[in-house]
Amino acid sequence: AADMGKDLERVLIPEEELQAKIKELAGQIDADYAGKDLLIVGVLKGAVMVMADLARALHIKVEMDWMAVSSYGAGTKSSGVVRTLKDLDTDIAGRHVLVVEDIIDSGLTLSWLVHNLRSRDPASVEICTLLRKPDAVKVPIDVKYVGFDIPNEFVIGYGLDYAERYRNLPFIGTLARHVYGAE
Ligand code: PRP
Ligand code: MN
Ligand code: MG
Repeated sequence: AADMGKDLERVLIPEEELQAKIKELAGQIDADYAGKDLLIVGVLKGAVMVMADLARALHIKVEMDWMAVSSYGAGTKSSGVVRTLKDLDTDIAGRHVLVVEDIIDSGLTLSWLVHNLRSRDPASVEICTLLRKPDAVKVPIDVKYVGFDIPNEFVIGYGLDYAERYRNLPFIGTLARHVYGAE
C-alpha cells in the first residue's frame, strides 16, 4: 500500500464535486438553523473530513462534538453490532443536534445512534450524510441532508476506510478488487 493509486478502481466523486456539495448542504443548514443554537456531532472516524469542511462552510454559530461508534471492524461488511467507543462530552438535553456522517450503508449505525440520542431528550435530532447507499433507503430513518446517493459499491476516501486505510484521499473512489479479493 505504499502507493494508494494502485488500489483504486476509479474516482466516483472528485474533490471539486465534494466541496461544491458541502457548500450547498452548508447553505441549507445555515438557513434551517438560523437563530438557533446548534450542536453538530461528527461520527468518528469516517466523518472527520465532512465535519471539518462542513463546519468551515457554515456561517451560523455551532458547537462541535464527536462520538465514536464502530460497526464494521476491519472488513467490508457491517458486523451488525454497534459499539460506543467514545460518547459525547456534551449534555444534549434541550439542544438542537445535527449528526454528521460520511455514509449510510445498511443504516444500522445511524438508526442505533439516533435512537440513542433521542433518549437523551434533545430539542431535535437531524442527520446530514455525505453519501447514502441503496440499502439505507429501506431503513426507517429520516435523513434531512444527503449529499449523494451512490451505487452499492465499496467506497473509500474522504474519511472512508478499508481496514483503516485510504481515509486521507481527497476524493471518493472505489476499491480495486485485488485489495479485498480474499473476502
Ligand atoms: C462506517 C461509516 C458509517 C457506517 C455506515 O463506519 O463511517 O459510520 O460505517 O454503515 P451502516 O449504515 O451499514 O451502519 P465504521 O463502522 O467503518 O467506522 P469508522 O467510521 O471508524 O470507519
Ligand atoms: Mn463511521
Ligand atoms: Mg470504517
